[in-house]
Amino acid sequence: MIYHGSRFTFRPDVPPGRRTTALDSLRDQGRTVPSVTSFLVGRDAGGAYEWGAVFVVEDLAGYRAFLTHPASRYADRIVRPMLDASISFDLTDDPDPKAAARIDEVRRHVLGTPAPSRRTVLKAVAAGTAAAATGVAAPAAAPAAAQAYGVAPGASVEVSMTVNGRLRRVAVEPRVTLLDALRERLGLTGTKKGCDRGECGACTVLADGERVKSCLTLAVMRQGAEITTVEGLARGEELHPVQEAFIRNDAFQCGACTPGQIMSAVACVDEGHAGSEAEIREWMSGNLCRCAAYQNIVAAIADAAREVRR
Ligand code: FES
Ligand code: FES
Repeated sequence: MIYHGSRFTFRPDVPPGRRTTALDSLRDQGRTVPSVTSFLVGRDAGGAYEWGAVFVVEDLAGYRAFLTHPASRYADRIVRPMLDASISFDLTDDPDPKAAARIDEVRRHVLGTPAPSRRTVLKAVAAGTAAAATGVAAPAAAPAAAQAYGVAPGASVEVSMTVNGRLRRVAVEPRVTLLDALRERLGLTGTKKGCDRGECGACTVLADGERVKSCLTLAVMRQGAEITTVEGLARGEELHPVQEAFIRNDAFQCGACTPGQIMSAVACVDEGHAGSEAEIREWMSGNLCRCAAYQNIVAAIADAAREVRR
C-alpha cells in the first residue's frame, strides 16, 4: 500500500470559490482513478488556506497509473497555479528500502523529474516524526490512516471518538466511513447520506469544530476526535440558534439536506463567514439543496448570525 500525500497553501489572493474548485478537482481525482483505493481531502487544521490530500494506492503499478491518470493531471493543472507552497510525500508501509527506491524510480520515470517529495516510511508518520522527516507537519489523518492500514485485511480497528459529548467506541474495518460509523454503528441517523461521494454536503458533521463531509472521511482517521452531529446541537428542549433560525425562516422543503445545511451553517457562523448574503452563499456552496430552498437557507443563516452576535 502506498500513501501519497500533499499539504499545500493557497496564495492569499485565491478566493474561496476557486479553492473549492481546486478541492473538487482533487476529489474527482480520488474518485476516478481506479487504483486509488481510498482518499481523503480536507481542510488542514493549520488554517483556512491550507488543504491536505492523502491518496491510498494499492501497489506500485497502481501508483504509476495514479500519477499518469488524466484526472491526476487535470487536478495538477487546476491546483498548482493557485499555490504558494506545497509539499508532497509518499509513504509506504513497506520498510524495505528497495520498495522506496522503486517508487522514486517510477516517479522519475513518469514525471521526468527528480522526486519533488521528501520521503519517510509510514512507521515514522505513525510515530509522529513526519514533521521532522518532511519539514512540515503531516496531515492529521496520516497517523490514523497508518494505524488503520496496519491491520490485516478484513480485520477491525477500535475507534474512540467523543460523539455529541459522549465517549463512543466502535470496532470498524479501516474502509468504513465516518458517515457509516455514525449511522450504521452508532444509530445516529440524523446525518444523511446523499451522494456518498462528497458532492452534496448532506453528511456534514463537525470534527474538532471543523465541518467535514463524513462520507469522505474514514472513521479510523478521526481516532480521538470530538464529533458533533445534528443530534448534538440542542441542549435538552432548547434548540441551537441555527436550528431555531431554520424553523423561523422555513429554510427547508423535503428536509433531506437540512441536517447537513444546519451543521455547515453552525460552522459558517462560528468561522465568521456569515457577514453578508454573498459571503454566506460562498461559504455554504458545498451544501446543495435539491428543493432549491437557498433563499430561505441564506436568510436563516443571516438571522442566526445576528442572534449569535447579540
Ligand atoms: S453524502 Fe457526503 S457529500 Fe453527499
Ligand atoms: S430541502 Fe429538500 S433538498 Fe434541501
